[in-house]
Amino acid sequence: MKPSQPTNTANTRIARTVGVSFKVALLTATAMAVSVATAQNTGKLKVGLMLPATGTFASLGTAIENGFKLYVQQQGGKIAGREVEYFKVDDESDPSKATDNVNKLIKRDNVDVIVGTVHSGVAMAMAKAAKDSGTLLFVPNAGADAVTGPMCAPNIFRSSFSNWQPGYATGEVMAKKGFKKVVTITWKYAAGDESVKGFKEAFEKSGGQVVKELSLPFPNVEFQALLTEIAATKPDAVFTFFAGGGAVKFVKDYAAAGLKKTIPLYGSGFLTDGNLEAQGADAEGIFTALHYADSLETKRDKAFRTAYATTFKLQPDVYAVQGYDAGQMLGIGLNAVKGDLSKKAEFAAAVRAAKIDSARGTFTVSNAHNPVQDFYLRQVVGKENKVVGIASKALADPGRGCKM
Ligand code: PHB
Repeated sequence: MKPSQPTNTANTRIARTVGVSFKVALLTATAMAVSVATAQNTGKLKVGLMLPATGTFASLGTAIENGFKLYVQQQGGKIAGREVEYFKVDDESDPSKATDNVNKLIKRDNVDVIVGTVHSGVAMAMAKAAKDSGTLLFVPNAGADAVTGPMCAPNIFRSSFSNWQPGYATGEVMAKKGFKKVVTITWKYAAGDESVKGFKEAFEKSGGQVVKELSLPFPNVEFQALLTEIAATKPDAVFTFFAGGGAVKFVKDYAAAGLKKTIPLYGSGFLTDGNLEAQGADAEGIFTALHYADSLETKRDKAFRTAYATTFKLQPDVYAVQGYDAGQMLGIGLNAVKGDLSKKAEFAAAVRAAKIDSARGTFTVSNAHNPVQDFYLRQVVGKENKVVGIASKALADPGRGCKM
């Protein structure tokens, strides 16, 4: 017998010890699993809000945050029994800081859900981080087509629109109005480029022609040279995508340049939504297409508008609706899995099967997780984006490149 080998008795003792510690380990692991599952179902729900608090889109960020919080407040501060706890990051609408910013929420704060953001370039970085980490992401505005296209994922949802959608709807409207030659003008980044692309797809399909595509870098507002070029080109009309503070200045500069009277200005509805106080008479009469309007007058919309105005002493806009609906979609998914976010497939199936009772009107969610919704034709009358018709019924983004 070699001295290094244990005796039979020693072997038995080792086997017993191993058996006991294995059982202890198993029991400990089971207890831990139970407590994790319990925490998953009943612990606080950590929600990371990544929105712009500064810059040209700051007011959009506020409206989204207010909308989301209104929904949570109406649920008594809890979703599926889990108390909501907020973590916040100002993304400044700056794509170069986006990966660092989203990782503050994912890695530092260890959030369960991220809600954000406004800017398409920032949202792309967020979608990548969400895809890589598996963190649940609700996009309450940014329209980047890729988020519900090639970047689509079971844990990524959008409560707003794809950039293609309002562009396409406005293209349909402008073709029907009989315009033949149009100039487009926008910021040179994903939202501007993709809005124009959607617009062109619909407008050119009906025989219209885009004679010039003008742009300037985001978030620049030095429009003068481009307005001079529009005046010289004399198109039948102009299609534009601008939003937030930049849209306020564009509408004012367009009128000041004397173009409002001669060349009709159209745009996706972000041009005037939430901006009418600041744009004043310069916005009067402008036609836009969007998935929300101020005068829908449905019971659902009235209840939403009253609750929002009472809570925040502000009038709601499309961004507030999108924030609220991000909350509703999260609520639908989380209730379906009784608060257990590890049940990702069931969560997604519930959201995909839902009819979401929104202030904008009922909408559904496509297989790529983007809203399928009506687009309204609106016209500015006083301080309201009034509905004057339907631009496009149940418009679905084509979801090009999404494989799930
Ligand atoms: C975007 O960057 O996707 C974006 C920003 C503001 C809007 C709409 C889209 O109003």
